[in-house]
Amino acid sequence: MKIIIDTPEKIAEKAALRYVELLSNKPDAILGLATGSTPVGLYNELVKLNKEGKISFKNVTTFNLDEYVGLEPTHDQSYRYFMNQHLLSHVDVDMEKTNVPSGINLDEAASYDSKISSAGGIDLQLLGIGNNGHIGFNEPGTPFGSETHLVDLTDSTREANARFFASIDDVPTQAVTMGIKTVMNAKSIILIALGKAKAEIIKATLQGEVTPEVPASILQLHPYVEVYLDHEAASLLD
Ligand code: GLP
Repeated sequence: MKIIIDTPEKIAEKAALRYVELLSNKPDAILGLATGSTPVGLYNELVKLNKEGKISFKNVTTFNLDEYVGLEPTHDQSYRYFMNQHLLSHVDVDMEKTNVPSGINLDEAASYDSKISSAGGIDLQLLGIGNNGHIGFNEPGTPFGSETHLVDLTDSTREANARFFASIDDVPTQAVTMGIKTVMNAKSIILIALGKAKAEIIKATLQGEVTPEVPASILQLHPYVEVYLDHEAASLLD
C-alpha cells in the first residue's frame, strides 16, 4: 500500500496523473468511479486535462460504486446525476459505456458484477470513505465476500449525507452498492480522504485490525492500493 500525503489541490493533481498514465497505456481501461464530495477536486482536474487534450475517455467504460434506491437518474441527488454533473457530461466519454447501478430497477443489481467481469474487470477503482469506514455503501458488518447488493443505510450515513438534501426525511433509506468483493476484484484502487473528520477512520482503516466492522480495512489485503490523504486526514497516523 502506498500512502501519499499532500494538500487537497496537489492530491487532485497527483491522482489525476494516475489516470493520465493508465489511459495512455490502456485507452480502453475500465474505471470504477465514486461519488461524494471527496472526488470532486480530482474530477475537476480530469475535466481540465481532457479539455487540454492531455487525457481522453473516448474508449473507457465506467462503473459507479453505488446509487440511492428510489431516485430517478434525473433526480439532482442521484449519483447518476452527480456523475454527469461533475465528470461525464464534461469529457469525451461515450455515455453508452457509463454505468451507474439502477436505484429503480433493483433486479439489475444481481447482474452488475457479471457485467463488470464481461467488460474485462475494473482496472482502477476510485474510493472515498464514509465516517464509519464504509466504502461504496458497504456499511460496517457487510461480509467481505459480498457482491453488488441492496443495503439499508445506517442512521449515521443518512445523517452525514443529509447535508445534500432538503431534510433528513428526504435521504433515501436504502441503496444499491458494489460489494466488498466487487471492489477488491479491481486490479488497482485509489482511496482518497480529506479533512479532520476522516482522521480517525483513516487510522482504523490503515493501521487497525482488518475487520468487517471497518469495511475499508480490507484494503490492507489488496495488492495494489494507493491512499491519497491531506494532512488533516493523515494526522492520527503513526
Ligand atoms: C457516500 C458514498 C461513498 C462516499 C461517502 C463519503 O456515502 N456512498 O462512496 O465515499 O459518501 O462522502 P464524502 O466524500 O462526501 O465525505
